[in-house]
Amino acid sequence: MGPPGSGKGTLSNLCVKNLGWSQLSTGNLCRKHIAEQTEIGKLIDLALKSGKLISDELITDMVKDWLFEIIDSVDSVILDGFPRTLPQAQAFGKIITEKMSTMCAKVVKFSIPDEKVIARVGSRFVCKNKNCQTVYSLVENSNLAPKRSMICDNCDSELIRRSDDSVETITERLVTYHKHEQALIDYYVDTGFSVVDVNAERSIESLFEEFKRINGV
Ligand code: AP5
Ligand code: MG
Repeated sequence: MGPPGSGKGTLSNLCVKNLGWSQLSTGNLCRKHIAEQTEIGKLIDLALKSGKLISDELITDMVKDWLFEIIDSVDSVILDGFPRTLPQAQAFGKIITEKMSTMCAKVVKFSIPDEKVIARVGSRFVCKNKNCQTVYSLVENSNLAPKRSMICDNCDSELIRRSDDSVETITERLVTYHKHEQALIDYYVDTGFSVVDVNAERSIESLFEEFKRINGV
């Protein structure tokens, strides 16, 4: 868990690429529904563009479908942007207890000041291909920049801005994140999940090393 722009997607990309983990990004799933104009996509388009959360029920159903489809074929999953509210965390706790009792879950919380993430999001570009959605930074000399200008390193698609990356929307998303953060942490602590707080205001290499250490990989 972590505020918008704190680096959840970027770190997840590294876990997929370097550790062979599977990434479940609820934001990516939502954007894919919208791009494919599914019934769900039509329902959530406006909320996503304006930085509002999608209903807990819809998100939890999406996560269940995704998890149950892949769970027998993967060892490790990184949940990027889920759970994000107390009802989602409770639903996830129930899934773990009832259906995946052999699974061990750990919560890693990214901490970073709001003004830093607003600056980061201002320089963010993402791959247009909704099966890819790799995240880049166009900050000068960043090692998170694409190798070729505005082209995705992984799939050669064009890079675009996200529709919810305006300053107004990111500000709204930050308010929403902070509104739910403490209730989530309290729930995790009360139910015995391990929660590790990580300073996300540092290089992605250093963050990834710390993340691997926390997870014993
Ligand atoms: P989602 O896509 O999950 O957005 P978010 O949580 O707001 O987070 P972001 O994706 O904006 O940031 P990030 O932490 O992934 O940072 P990133 O790695 O890109 O959700 C979008 C929307 O979908 C929500 O608003 C909601 O409508 C809906 N939704 C999704 N999940 C939901 C849920 N569970 N419940 C209800 N609704 C839901 O990095 C940002 C930038 O910084 C990039 O340019 C990157 O290159 C750069 N960067 C990353 N790390 C570093 C670093 N260490 N140093 C310097 N730059 C860095
Ligand atoms: Mg993300």
